[in-house]
Amino acid sequence: MARANGTADIVFRNARLVDGTGGPSCLGDLALEDDRISAIGDTAQGGLAQIRGTREIDLAGKVLSPGFIDVHTHDDRAVLADPLMTCKVSQGVTTVVTGNCGVSLAPLDIAFRPPSPMDLICEDPKGFFADFGDYLDTLDRDPPATNALAQVGHGSLRVGAMERLDRAASGAEIKVMRARLEAALEAGAIGLSTGLFYPPAAAAPTEEVIELAKALAGFHGLHSTHMRDESDHIADSLEETFRIGREAQVPVVISHHKCAGMDNYGRSGETLGLIEAARLKQPLGLDVYPYVASSTMLASVRGMQASRVMVAWSKPHPEAAGRDLAEVAEDMGLSQEQAVEALTPAGGIFFSMDEEDVRRILSYPHSMIGSDGLPHDVHPHPRLWGTFPRVLGHYGREAGLFPLEEAVRKMTSLSAARFGIKDRGILREGAYADLVIFDPDTVEDAATFDNPKQPAIGIEMVVVNGRTVWQDGQHSGARPGRALRRQDLDAPRFEGAA
Ligand code: ZN
Ligand code: CU
Repeated sequence: MARANGTADIVFRNARLVDGTGGPSCLGDLALEDDRISAIGDTAQGGLAQIRGTREIDLAGKVLSPGFIDVHTHDDRAVLADPLMTCKVSQGVTTVVTGNCGVSLAPLDIAFRPPSPMDLICEDPKGFFADFGDYLDTLDRDPPATNALAQVGHGSLRVGAMERLDRAASGAEIKVMRARLEAALEAGAIGLSTGLFYPPAAAAPTEEVIELAKALAGFHGLHSTHMRDESDHIADSLEETFRIGREAQVPVVISHHKCAGMDNYGRSGETLGLIEAARLKQPLGLDVYPYVASSTMLASVRGMQASRVMVAWSKPHPEAAGRDLAEVAEDMGLSQEQAVEALTPAGGIFFSMDEEDVRRILSYPHSMIGSDGLPHDVHPHPRLWGTFPRVLGHYGREAGLFPLEEAVRKMTSLSAARFGIKDRGILREGAYADLVIFDPDTVEDAATFDNPKQPAIGIEMVVVNGRTVWQDGQHSGARPGRALRRQDLDAPRFEGAA
């Protein structure tokens, strides 16, 4: 594939090439031309000695891998409002999947403040898009630094189609939602997400979701789910999730898999056993983030069984952001429950998981990495800035959960296969030049619960579609990302399913 004239835009030399497949890394050179990888050469076979780059960069053994794919984000509005996406590119993320947990910016036409958790991505009704194609076209015109794939949220469909959300949708309402979902899929949406845990969708019966999910099959769409229960009734929720996939005949991704609440510590052996058994019978995947705390609207505290709760933001009490709920409640002279009332609308961070469960789920070979970061929170969960380097540094290098090649696979080729993302997530001649260069000895997250908005350490350079977006700890200002429509992608791939 090396061009006859032996030139390229950039040639990286002496890189440790971690190609995303999980196979062993090797020392080599990689050239890129326009938006694609034009040549790869193993140093043992002379590298790319015959090619000269307009830019030549000697990596001296630093890792060069495919850019990371963040499969679980709430970046729907961030890609428009904060298109540099520094929180993500500074981690090596080059592609984000939006519209998770039933919450999407489109299609939704409302004249009132959206109910929680829709307000986690946008409080202003005018910020939503009635037309999904219009949302994607807006991204085309004014692109972010990362690529984006967008899902339709079931919660957003319900808010747009139902006057009351505390009941099942009627046949007529399902028809309206399904027509809007199909129009969105037509326009390029990659799937349907649900958040059956959340008030806007908690009253939806399984059958309602199945009816909507059936629309996906004709579009190679997939279904992702923040399940109804990730706590005491998690086994029932897993069964519901499998059933939706089977009856609608669609691939399913379980979002941010966890066993929440002290009573459920240690249950990941059981849940992964159920997932493994189902995975052999139907297309099924999952994602996970590398922390023992979750984050969502503060009002969820009731079901959380958390050992500690922090306030991430509060509309009436912005000064509470970053503080422990217990302290805030004490200062207010209120019980914790009353304090939650007083702080709402608000977001929280909940320490509700067992370290051993997090490690077991991260280590499971079919788990992809997704940040679930909340980009508009005043005091966000550190996963927004730290997820990917934390998997590489803290859990890979330091805790030894997996070799570097396997950590990279969970963030690149595995995710690209599940979501059908063509020619990305892999180092291959002809693939898109979405790349990250990092120091495997120092890479780690710097974002903490107390100080969450910190770029990671050791991420040296990030390239999206052949253009540098991050180098030497600084954003280049470039915004070469693309809105990837389902029509431009492959069908999702799930090996192992019958
Ligand atoms: Zn969620
Ligand atoms: Cu989420």
